[in-house]
Amino acid sequence: MASQTINNDEIKVRQAVRDHYAGAARNVSSCCGGGGDKASSCGCGTSSSASEPSTKEFYNAEDFNALPEDVTNISLGCGDPVTLASLKPGQTVLDLGSGGGIDCFLAGKKVGSTGKVIGVDMTPEMLDKARTNKVKVGAENVEFRLGEIEHLPVSDSSVDVVISNCVINLSTDKPQVLGEILRVLKPGGRMAVSDIVTSGDLPDEVKASMSAWAGCIAGAMDADEMTALLKKTGFTNISLKPVYFSEEMVADAVNQAEYSGKMSNEELKKTVFSANISAEKPA
Ligand SMILES: C[S@@+](CC[C@H](N)C(=O)[O-])C[C@H]1O[C@@H](n2cnc3c(N)ncnc32)[C@H](O)[C@@H]1O
Repeated sequence: MASQTINNDEIKVRQAVRDHYAGAARNVSSCCGGGGDKASSCGCGTSSSASEPSTKEFYNAEDFNALPEDVTNISLGCGDPVTLASLKPGQTVLDLGSGGGIDCFLAGKKVGSTGKVIGVDMTPEMLDKARTNKVKVGAENVEFRLGEIEHLPVSDSSVDVVISNCVINLSTDKPQVLGEILRVLKPGGRMAVSDIVTSGDLPDEVKASMSAWAGCIAGAMDADEMTALLKKTGFTNISLKPVYFSEEMVADAVNQAEYSGKMSNEELKKTVFSANISAEKPA
């Protein structure tokens, strides 16, 4: 990959995102219950039952409930990329922005002892959390690496499936991220990603809000542009399917961020949604 030039705005966004998720890792209990160092994030809000993470609605209940609370309480995604990936025993899986590790542990069960899962995250506090959780889960086939998804610490053509849950929207350089995914996938490998996208443009004031960036709204790409970018990068068999949030989850996202009031819940719901995105590296 060609080296990138990062401008001041990109540095500012990356620092705001890192600070936000470092806070989320330090304040897990406030993350999904509000208050304290407000760690609102993609999909992380109060649920109807205040003690349950709102992301529970995305997952198979049996798989979710089998994980320790220390893992499910720091589930900050916006979908279920592991189910989308249809993983098989023996595969090597890479999770971009692995957070507290929930999708790595679910993927680890699917690929079994002959497979392996690598989680990459740029926030040291999240990595500490994930490594502690790994011991609690006893997930021997899961490994966590510190790194940025724009510069993956992973060798070329070494991965069968790339998964990611609500992270690519947080990057200021999506062409670079998609290029990195293509580089690390084996020929014929696939990406299966849950992420926030938009239908049309967001107001400039939302795009400029650091909390809207950290909350997975400001950096979300238009769905058609994302499909076009995947194609331009070199992916084939591209699919992008909307997964709409519950009213409650949208209200939580709006209430927890400083852009509250600038877009109504109804406007936000029509413009911003989660999607299951899959694509293949040509064989
Ligand atoms: C919304 S959380 C999702 C975490 C996890 N995927 C989940 O579902 O719980 C976003 C995570 O991505 C990480 N992250 C954000 N931007 C990143 C980047 N450019 N490179 C690597 N990690 C990043 C953050 O540190 C955070 O842990």
